[in-house]
Order: sequence, then C-alpha cells, then structure tokens
Amino acid sequence: MTSTKKATLTFTDGTPSVELPIYEGTVGPDVIDIRKLYGQTGKFTFDPGFMSTAACDSKITYIDGDKGELLYRGYPIEQLATNCDYLETCYLLLNGELPNRAQHKDFDYQVTHHTMVHEQMTRFFQGFRRDAHPMAVLVGCVGALSAFYHDSLDINNAEHRHISAIRLIAKMPTLVAMAYKYTVGQPFMYPRNDLSYSGNLMRMMFGTPCEEYKVNEVLERALDRILILHADHEQNASTSTVRLAGSSGANPFACIAAGIATLWGPAHGGANEACLQMLDDIQKNGGVEKIGEFIAKVKDKNSGVKLMGFGHRVYKNYDPRAKLMRETCYEVLGELGLHDDPLFKLSMKLEQIALEDDYFVSRKLYPNVDFYSGIVQKALGIPTSMFTCIFALARTVGWIAQWNEMISDPEQKIGRPRQLFVGSARRDVKAIDLR
Ligand code: CMC
Repeated sequence: MTSTKKATLTFTDGTPSVELPIYEGTVGPDVIDIRKLYGQTGKFTFDPGFMSTAACDSKITYIDGDKGELLYRGYPIEQLATNCDYLETCYLLLNGELPNRAQHKDFDYQVTHHTMVHEQMTRFFQGFRRDAHPMAVLVGCVGALSAFYHDSLDINNAEHRHISAIRLIAKMPTLVAMAYKYTVGQPFMYPRNDLSYSGNLMRMMFGTPCEEYKVNEVLERALDRILILHADHEQNASTSTVRLAGSSGANPFACIAAGIATLWGPAHGGANEACLQMLDDIQKNGGVEKIGEFIAKVKDKNSGVKLMGFGHRVYKNYDPRAKLMRETCYEVLGELGLHDDPLFKLSMKLEQIALEDDYFVSRKLYPNVDFYSGIVQKALGIPTSMFTCIFALARTVGWIAQWNEMISDPEQKIGRPRQLFVGSARRDVKAIDLR
C-alpha cells in the first residue's frame, strides 16, 4: 500500500505530534495507518466494537452501508442472485473471478465428489443428546473434521488450503442435514451426485430412504438464493473471528468452527431464529392487534426488547439482501399457496408499521435479510432451530475465502488487540487471615 495523504495527530500532554500515512481503497473510506503509533507515542487507540477500525485490507466483499450496496468481488449482489447459482458464487469468492463454463463444471465436480463425510463421523452425532441445539452439534462436528485430514492441514501449502476449502463447502450440507436428521430421529441420508448443491441439501434434509424425493425447482432456487445472499459479508463478527483464529496458524476446520460459534449469537446469525420466535410470540399474544403494544416495548429502552430482523451495524439504508429475500419470500409463499399464512401477514404488518414509525426512520433502522429469511425457511419446511445452521453453511465459503486471503498475505501477523487497563494497579498478596 502506498500513501500520498497524511494525517497529523497532535497531543495536549506534551507528546510530540506524529504524521500518520493515509491509504485509499478502490472505493469506501480511507484508512489512517496507526501501526507505528504505539512505538512513536507510547499510546494505543481505543475502539471497542471496531466502530472505526479496519482490521485488514481485503479484495473480497464491499458494502456501502449508506447506499445499501453489497458487492462480491465487484459484482452487485442483485446480479449474482439473479444470474448465478451458489457454486458459481463460491468460485467467485474463492478465486476472484466468475468461472467460465469449463471452470464451473470442474468446480461443481470437485464439490460434488467431496460431499460424503467419513463414516465414523456418524458416531460423533450419537454422542449428543437428541434435543441438543443443532448449532452445538455443528460447532463440534466441523471442529472434529480436523481430526480426519492430517495429511492436508499445512496452512502454508496452497494445495492443502484449496482441498480444505472444497471439503468444507462440500461437507457442510451433509453435516447440516445430519444434525437435523439426528434431532428428528430419522436415518442420515447419503448425498446424491445427480442433484444440485441446494437440491442435494433438500433431499438430505427432507427425504427418507423409504421413497423417492422430488426436488421442487422453485424451492430449490429459493434455497440457493438464501445461500448466495449469505455467502459473505466482509469483516463481520464471525468472519473476524475466523481471521483471528486463523492468524495463530490454527487449521481451517478449527477456524470455521470458531466462526460457527460466533455466528450463533442472536445479534448476528441467530437473528432469523430470534425473529421468527418474536413473530410467534406476538402471534400467540394477540397477533396483529397487539403490534402497537409490541412496538411500544421495542421503543422503551428499559424493556430490553428489540425488533429482531431490523437494524444493522453497517447498513443505514435498506439491506440489499432483504429486498431480494422479500422477493423470494413472495415467490415461495405463492408456490406453496401460503400467502394467507398468519405469521406472514403479521410480519408484513410489522414491517409496514416499523418503516413508517419515526423511532425506526430517525435511527435508519431498516429490515435486514433475517427479517424475511426466517419466513422463507419456515415455508421451505426448515425448523427454526436449523436457521443458523443454514446461515453457517452459506457463510462457510466467505469464511474460507477470507481466511485464505489472510494466510496468503506475506505481511500477515497474529491478531493481538491491546487494552486500556482499568483494574487494580500492582498490589501485594496478604496472608489469608489478614484479608
Ligand atoms: N430494535 C430496536 N431498536 C434498535 C434496533 C432494533 N432491532 N437496532 C438498533 N436499535 C436502536 C438502538 O437501541 C440505538 O438506539 P439509541 O440511539 O436510542 O441508543 C440505535 O438504534 C442504534 O443502534 P446500535 O445498537 O448502536 O446499532 P449497532 O450497530 O450496535 O447494532 C444490531 C446493530 C444488528 C446489533 C442491532 O440493530 C440489532 O440488535 N438488531 C436486531 C438483531 C438483528 O436483526 N441482527 C441481524 C443483523 S443482520 C445479520 C448479519 O449480518 O449478521
């Protein structure tokens, strides 16, 4: 990175001022390079929650939160969601360019032929209680994959990184479907190579060995779109976790397990599950009639209630993924004849009220992708507890692309944030009777 602009930082405590280089990206805000700040001034910067801190440079995904724009490798999400399938999107995120026909075919072949998991993996599942949350199962099983591939875990070997990427993308649907089948007590379904990535996932989740499973094309396309929309989202909490875990040299399966654990939280990937639970609660407590009361609670800071599926750290405009998911929501409900579904009607009313309410308008709180993805997933027959697993499956490619980018960077260092210490200064241990 080269710098033509500089920032001068002056101090009121006698510390000499310092000049800091400024770097420009292709688009988006410039960054001030503070890497030498501590050495020059003995001071750290303070930015809990990374409100103003770029933790890396990246070529993968760009979000303009004010415009409501999301680009994967420069391509708008709207064009990718309309013209490409999930595996093309994976290829793009991993390699930087969209595949041509031959590359697409080859990539499909590689992924399709790595979908089976080691037969011993089935025993890991038996160790979990039947009522375990599938995300708990997924964190454990993805981490456990590292135990099966000792021969290809050299993170400094590009070939090893590639095969790990293919394995993770290919095996996630199998593991996610197994996590589901385990909770419902049905036999695990082996993957089928004649189905698409999303069609195969549907069959492994909803098919049984007793009869043929016919993939509905509208629903298959909807699921594929959910995967495309969730494939990457630059330096969010789970991706930053994957990068931080990876910066220590940990293997990719362990890093992705760390990402899955982070995604689980309701402020991140758990939001669509929390959103559907919220809709269910409103429905049980009076439905549309009670929306006003619910919104009043959301606006009351002391209630601790949030309107799940609304608001975003980066988007201060309509989340572009939400627009596409809204469209898919209508398609799926139309296909299944569910337009009159009470939960859907409730969500549309809630959306309308929130979009007109000054509390939300003044804070630039718009629906995010999770507001609609839960409704679509429910319509597809995916149980609420599985929503975050589907998100984790979709995001695996983003995590692995970001991890790979970091490992390939010759300047990469272990991530090690600093702190402002506000605890007790040095003191001496007193004998126990004197405490
Ligand atoms: N309902 C009610 N008030 C909200 C909400 C909400 N969903 N989101 C933000 N606010 C308020 C917040 O209380 C604050 O008010 P004030 O200025 O009066 O103190 C203001 O809006 C600014 O919010 P913030 O908490 O500073 O925003 P943040 O960037 O820290 O949080 C967020 C972003 C996503 C954690 C938050 O909007 C939220 O909790 N939303 C609900 C959960 C959700 O839907 N998460 C999914 C995010 S999209 C999936 C993903 O990309 O992972």
